[in-house]
Amino acid sequence: MVQPFVNEPLTDFSVPEQRAAFEQALAEVGAQLGRTYPLYIGGREVLTERRTASINPSQKDQVVGYVAKADQALAEEAMQSALAAFETWKRKSFAERARYLLKAAAIMRRRKHELSAWMCYEAGKTWPEADADTAEAIDFLEFYAREAIRLGEVHPLVRIPGEDNEQHYIPLGVGIIIPPWNFPLAILTGMTSAAVVTGNTVLLKPATPTPVIASKFVEVMRDAGIPAGVINFVPGSGAEIGDYLVDHPRTRFISFTGSKEVGIRIYERAAKVQPGQIWLKRVVAEMGGKDAIVVDREADLEDAARQIAASAFHFSGQKCSACSRAIIHQDVYDIVAERVVALAQSMRVGPAMDGASQVGPVIDESAYRKILEYIEVGKTEGKLLAGGGKAEGNGFFIQPTVFGDVDPHARIAQEEIFGPVVALIRAKDFEDAIRIANDTEFGLTGSVFSNNREHLEYARQEFHVGNLYFNRKCTGALVGVHPFGGFNMSGTDSKAGGRDYLLLFTQAKAVSEKL
Ligand code: SER
Repeated sequence: MVQPFVNEPLTDFSVPEQRAAFEQALAEVGAQLGRTYPLYIGGREVLTERRTASINPSQKDQVVGYVAKADQALAEEAMQSALAAFETWKRKSFAERARYLLKAAAIMRRRKHELSAWMCYEAGKTWPEADADTAEAIDFLEFYAREAIRLGEVHPLVRIPGEDNEQHYIPLGVGIIIPPWNFPLAILTGMTSAAVVTGNTVLLKPATPTPVIASKFVEVMRDAGIPAGVINFVPGSGAEIGDYLVDHPRTRFISFTGSKEVGIRIYERAAKVQPGQIWLKRVVAEMGGKDAIVVDREADLEDAARQIAASAFHFSGQKCSACSRAIIHQDVYDIVAERVVALAQSMRVGPAMDGASQVGPVIDESAYRKILEYIEVGKTEGKLLAGGGKAEGNGFFIQPTVFGDVDPHARIAQEEIFGPVVALIRAKDFEDAIRIANDTEFGLTGSVFSNNREHLEYARQEFHVGNLYFNRKCTGALVGVHPFGGFNMSGTDSKAGGRDYLLLFTQAKAVSEKL
């Protein structure tokens, strides 16, 4: 019998022993940089001639590792392995499959600092961000294990005399898992484990910038004893194998988290029924955001400013939940703006491996260029109040940047930048603020800072986002506590970490026997 679910505690880095333990993990991982990682297909490691170098974004000349690269032939081999493994995996009970997740969670817990350290090097995550990522990965394993056990139980139906009726949930088939680089362990673990615990088998294609931590996940699942062919690890380029797998007639579903552009592309391609295909593919797509924090006239303004800065700049604003618009009542705009600027200017930008850094680098060269271009656009659209360019260092560092008096329809107020840039917008009154907040194609997260009950109730109804928070930051959803996913162009609102999530990877079958 499993214990009730509780979230994995975060590490308190103000405790000297914890700091020392994490420093040691960083040193140990540092000594392992530059190794080569294979594909994993049908229980077999495969090394390829072509490899991708994974770079440390805090130190551009440091290679974190080299990862083998699948081509179409290997992707096809992985598909065949997954199809073969499905025939036995689908017959296991939910409880049996759940035990692999519980074992994997225990392994991750033992390797917690080490896994977080890999993310400091590979994803540019500061210590607390990396620690939270690993904790969330453990949470997903623990939570979906329990959810699977629940899903395997008898589901109550209306009873009629003379018939025995039941409904149960069966898996879909082979899925393609395409996770993001910004939560390279947590979201990857959640997406993959949910799909396999429900009886599907998968091809896991990690995000290009973070394949090493993905490979560590595969290692954990192997150590947990996951049968050959259930999880096939196929790093490779989107153009080369991504499209091939999405289009494949034997692909039953695609679970994607990433940009709106790629999400739309997958959705469109998956809709095309291929010759020989006998189902409609299911697509779970979690995409971007243009998330807003609304500050009312009656609110704790200091806390609002702090949470805006945290939501906008931690992990350099590279969370789909990050605050990229702060919509502030005109009566308190100047006070809040001044505090956000002061906080932005006080944040220490530096290498993620350094425990003193509060803001690390952005993920890679192309993100770096794109964000700097947006900052230039911002200079023509608003008043530059803080930051405004690159920061010192041998990595992709960008200053926390604040633009003031931004028009709600400016590009920097509408387009997802995915960097440490926030646009401050003046609102005439509270209703105007909510109207501006909703004036976007996205609908992922949002926060309201207000002490006015009527305003909070108004926002509860009208603020159209999948994750709405009152008087707290708009990032940091906890598994089981804040089921996560958004509306409109933010995706299919799959509610990761919620009680409905596993259903997305199943189909219900009703069996009726006349007695
Ligand atoms: N779940 C993360 C958060 O809430 C974003 O993916 O910040």
